Amino acid sequence: MPEGFLGNDGTAEAALQRSLTAFNRERFDPALPTVDWRSGIDRNAAGLREEGDFLEERRTAVSARAAAAPTDAEGFLRWFEALETEGPGQHDPLFPWLAETATMEQMRWFLTQEVAGEAGFEDLSALTQVKLPARPKLEIARNYWDEMGRGNPKGMHGPLLESLAEHLGLAPTAEGTVWEAQALANVMAGLAANRRYAYHSVGALGVIEQTAPARAALVGKGLKRLGVPAGQRHYFDLHAILDVKHSAAWNSEAIGPLVASDPALAPAIAEGALMRLECGAACFRRYRRELGI
Ligand SMILES: [Fe+2]
Ligand SMILES: [Fe+2]
Repeated sequence: MPEGFLGNDGTAEAALQRSLTAFNRERFDPALPTVDWRSGIDRNAAGLREEGDFLEERRTAVSARAAAAPTDAEGFLRWFEALETEGPGQHDPLFPWLAETATMEQMRWFLTQEVAGEAGFEDLSALTQVKLPARPKLEIARNYWDEMGRGNPKGMHGPLLESLAEHLGLAPTAEGTVWEAQALANVMAGLAANRRYAYHSVGALGVIEQTAPARAALVGKGLKRLGVPAGQRHYFDLHAILDVKHSAAWNSEAIGPLVASDPALAPAIAEGALMRLECGAACFRRYRRELGI
């Protein structure tokens, strides 16, 4: 673990991500009616404005590249699939290093960041599918059901990651999390929670499915090398395989039909995917810096 590490480094960006993380907790956590619900609405409005400025800044940063994507379904899918090799942060040297070289302590630090930045694919997809046409809606439903272990609590993806975290004794905290990992979760939550970014969210979730297998395989390999038992590595071994199928289905059932129905959705889906990949790339850079790679 980096000596004397302070997750959030006192910059304006770190303060913004902490504020958005708190906003998302308040927005999504189930709660009860309170007497001061009116003041809650005022706080929400301020949070939504702060989030909107943040998302627009991130969107502007990728809009030129997204605008170059073809707007016919076939051409767009080719462009989208090419993100696996050509997208920001793809095949970052961090992952072969985790597979071959990282110590257990370094692997634990990396996983603590990843667990803290985990936004919950199942909830993000549930938010995203609201009022979508039947074909993408059904694909998101099938994906959601897989996330839910098809009804078996032992197969739910979230708890699989939690059980690894527990096995390794990880203690993720907001203060110990680099702001880049919080930014990734805040982008995903913002795209899924605001309907004006519904198609961005489809792109961002789809690009996770497409790019996760290669990373998951290398993290799984590193865990195996470090002696973590197969039962505890299952989250990574599972995603190395299952997300290949999830990605193919997401592309053919959600992204392709949406772009075919309206070419104007292509740049939105492309922006969402690029926003997500840029967040990942920033995390990998920061992790490498902290880990001295
Ligand atoms: Fe999953
Ligand atoms: Fe998946």
